[in-house]
Amino acid sequence: MLDGKGDLDTMKALVAYGTRYGSTTDIANKIGEILKKQGADVDIINLQKERIKDISHYDLIIIGSGIKMGSWTKKALGFLKKFESELAGKRVAFFVSCMSAHHPDKREEASEKYLLGIARRYPRVKPFKYGLFGGLIDVNRYGAGTRFIMKRFPEEFEKDGIDVNKTNDFRNWDEIQKWAKELNISRKK
Ligand SMILES: Cc1cc2nc3c(=O)[nH]c(=O)nc-3n(C[C@H](O)[C@H](O)[C@H](O)COP(=O)(O)O)c2cc1C
Repeated sequence: MLDGKGDLDTMKALVAYGTRYGSTTDIANKIGEILKKQGADVDIINLQKERIKDISHYDLIIIGSGIKMGSWTKKALGFLKKFESELAGKRVAFFVSCMSAHHPDKREEASEKYLLGIARRYPRVKPFKYGLFGGLIDVNRYGAGTRFIMKRFPEEFEKDGIDVNKTNDFRNWDEIQKWAKELNISRKK
C-alpha cells in the first residue's frame, strides 16, 4: 500500500496508561501527538476505561501510570500482567507521572521504585526507555477524604512545594516532548 495508514512500513504505536485523577491523560496525549507528527500510526488508550484484546500489530508500546501511595493503577499493572509474554518481543517504554519527580532528592528512589521496580516484576518485559515525569496536584480533583487532609495540613504539602489552594502543575511539557522524540519511531525493532 502506498497511502500512509495501513502501510506496511508505518510504525504502529500504542500509548496505554492508567490514571486516577486525569493528569496522566494529558501526558499520554502529548506523547501520542509527537509520535503522530513523526509519522506513526498511534492509538492512545486509557486503561481505566477501555480494554485491549490484541497488541500483536503494534511495533512500539508505551505504558504509563499516575502514582498514588507508591503504586501504579491496577488496570495498568493488569495490562502488563496480561500481555507480559507478548510485550517480551516488542519495543517497550515505561513512564510514570508522580510528585517525587520534581524533587531532585527523591528522583532516584522514585525511578527505582516506580520504573525499574515495576520492570523487575515483569521480567520478560524489557523497556528500552523510562520516563519519570512530574504530575499535577489539584485538591478539587480528589475525594472528600484526601481533600480534607490536604486542607487540614497544608504545611505538610508546602514542604513539597505544593500550595493546596491552587493547581500545582509539575508536568514539564518540554521534557515530555523531548522524551517522546527520543523514542525514535524510525526504528521498528
Ligand atoms: C492521594 C494521592 C497520593 C499520591 N501518592 C503519591 C506517591 O506515593 N508518590 C508520588 O510520587 N506521588 C504521589 N502522588 C502524586 C500523583 O502521582 C500525581 O498527582 C499524579 O499526577 C497523579 O496522576 P493522575 O492524575 O493521572 O492519577 C499522589 C497524589 C495523590 C492525590
